[in-house]
Amino acid sequence: MNKRVEIYSLFQPTFGNRPLQYIGRNDVIEQFMAGLREPVGSRNRCTLFLGQRGMGKTALLLELSDRAQDAGYVVARVTAHEGMPQAIIEQFQLNGSKFFNDDKRKLTGVSAGALGFSLGLTFSEAAERQYGFRAKMSLLCDRLAEKSKGALILIDEVRTSAAMREVAAAYQELVGDRKNIAIAMAGLPHAVSSVLNDSVLTFLNRAVKVELGLISTQLIRAYYERAFRSIDIKASDEVLDRAALSTRGFPYLMQLIGYYMIQYTPEGGTVTDDVMNKAEKAAMKDLEDNVFKPILSPLSDNDRLFLQALARCGGTATTAKLQAKLGKKGPAIQPYRKRLIEAGIIEAPRRGELVFAVPYLSDYLSGHS
Ligand SMILES: Nc1ncnc2c1ncn2[C@@H]1O[C@H](COP(=O)(O)OP(=O)(O)OP(=O)(O)O)[C@@H](O)[C@H]1O
Ligand SMILES: [Mg+2]
Repeated sequence: MNKRVEIYSLFQPTFGNRPLQYIGRNDVIEQFMAGLREPVGSRNRCTLFLGQRGMGKTALLLELSDRAQDAGYVVARVTAHEGMPQAIIEQFQLNGSKFFNDDKRKLTGVSAGALGFSLGLTFSEAAERQYGFRAKMSLLCDRLAEKSKGALILIDEVRTSAAMREVAAAYQELVGDRKNIAIAMAGLPHAVSSVLNDSVLTFLNRAVKVELGLISTQLIRAYYERAFRSIDIKASDEVLDRAALSTRGFPYLMQLIGYYMIQYTPEGGTVTDDVMNKAEKAAMKDLEDNVFKPILSPLSDNDRLFLQALARCGGTATTAKLQAKLGKKGPAIQPYRKRLIEAGIIEAPRRGELVFAVPYLSDYLSGHS
């Protein structure tokens, strides 16, 4: 690889990209891949990944997409939106067409494929007009099965909507019809908020729920070491330790810190403490703009006061201590507690105790109270 290209691809601190190397989460990936090897309808074939912004949901779906293709699946990857059912069909047609190069048939009909798909996955005019999502998916699954391929739907930024309802209902029916289909969805923690009551929610709640947390700083350190060595940038053990610990295992921050370390170090140079200071500062600014602000902006003033009180307690406090800080009686803080846990902003590691679930958010809030 060209050296410059190599440098730029090592760290890409933007959302929704495919990292050069996907770090950690082997157990999560393996569990889902095992589901694909299990019989149709097995629970692991319908999985919902929940995680905070920047925790790597989109990157995980991209990783699963590659692995599933290697395991004999055709993949449709979409972001949840109103046109999602049609987008899923089109993705299967596009991504499956390479298996039908010599196929001159159409799906139950007469007309030729006008969209550049091979005919094997193109619907007849009648089918196109009359059939809904489920029927079309059923035909596609059958045709893919002829080539020993399964169908995997990946839905990013999942939320309750009419389109999601249609996809969820069809998925359940297709499983009932023993089609070789699987689905993985990813969303923010409050995508499954208990205040909503909806058939989609029931579907999401029945899925295998996997919470994406922080990744191992040891694996991050090992990646940093390999990455810098590959481009002849020298980083001492102390610098590698510091960089890895600074990420606190947060994937987006791992990309940001690595990226700025390279930016501030001349080619073939050494990562100094000064470089580290600048890299951490720049990374923190991006983290604030792209993670903290979007997390905090939908919250009410009271939710924010609650979080600021927790931050003033050093980021960890018992419920009793928080109540004292906020000057409220027992039950009053419960709704905030519940809502903010559901939103994936705080968590209760032990009964009665609360901590921030997002690294550095406490520091940020104490600087802004
Ligand atoms: N396991 C990982 N290994 C290496 N890089 C990762 C990993 N997970 C995420 N990243 C990187 O972190 C950044 C944020 O990841 P991603 O876009 O997947 O977050 P997200 O959870 O989808 O966030 P959002 O909710 O805002 O969409 C990206 O640059 C991505 O490449
Ligand atoms: Mg994403």
